[in-house]
Formats: sequence, structure tokens, C-alpha cells
Amino acid sequence: MSKHTHSTLILVAVLLLAACAQEPKGDPVRGMQTHEVCLDCHGTELYASPTRKIKSLDALRKDVAKWGDYYAPALTPQDVDDITAYLNRDFYKF
Ligand code: HEC
Repeated sequence: MSKHTHSTLILVAVLLLAACAQEPKGDPVRGMQTHEVCLDCHGTELYASPTRKIKSLDALRKDVAKWGDYYAPALTPQDVDDITAYLNRDFYKF
């Protein structure tokens, strides 16, 4: 492998890592299914409401985790990540 190819590969790897860091690590498709249980109390309209309370991705994840603890058994950290990714992709868009 030439020196040039090598540094190009490193650059690509760094860019990929940087791109991944922007996204929540959850799977929005799975999150949408897991989120079904949340619809017992409210629809999705409160996520898109102008008066919604959540102002950051971090706050969103914490709130999803809080609601996840309401269930027995509680939602897993993976479920929380998935639902956070789904809500962010379709509603909050942080
Ligand atoms: C027992 C009823 C109940 C369940 C179950 C429930 N929620 Fe909620 N949720 C509420 C109520 C009531 C509010 C509004 C008041 C508040 O924020 O405390 C709310 C607010 C929220 C908000 C804040 C919206 C905003 O930006 O203002 C999020 C996010 C949320 N719920 C997510 C979820 C998720 C995800 C689940 C499932 C894991 C869930 N909720 C399950 C009752 C519920």
C-alpha cells in the first residue's frame, strides 16, 4: 500500500467517525415500533407542538429514559436510544 493510499484511508475513517458522532446511536425504525407503548397516554402531536418543553437532544434522551422507567420491566438503554433516534428524526430534529 502506498503512503498516499494509507493517509486517504485514515482520512476516510476519521470522517466516518465524525459523521457518526453527530447522530444518536439508536435505530429510528426500531424506535418507532418500540414507541407504540407510549401512545397509551399521548399521540405524537406533543413532540411537534410549539409549546413543547424539550430543547436539546440530551434533554430528549433523558425524558425518554424517564418515561421508559415508567414501564415494568423498564425499557432497555437500547430501547431508549432507538426511541430518541426516532423522535429526533421525525419530530424534534435537533
Ligand atoms: C402515563 C402516561 C404517559 C406515558 C405512558 C408516557 N407519557 Fe410521555 N408524557 C405524558 C404527559 C402527561 C406529558 C406532558 C407533561 C410532562 O412533560 O410531564 C408527556 C410528555 C412527554 C414528552 C415531552 C414532550 C415535550 O417536548 O414537551 C416526551 C418526549 C414524552 N412524553 C415521551 C414519552 C415516551 C418516549 C414514552 C414511552 C416510553 C412516554 N412518553 C410515555 C404522559 C405519558
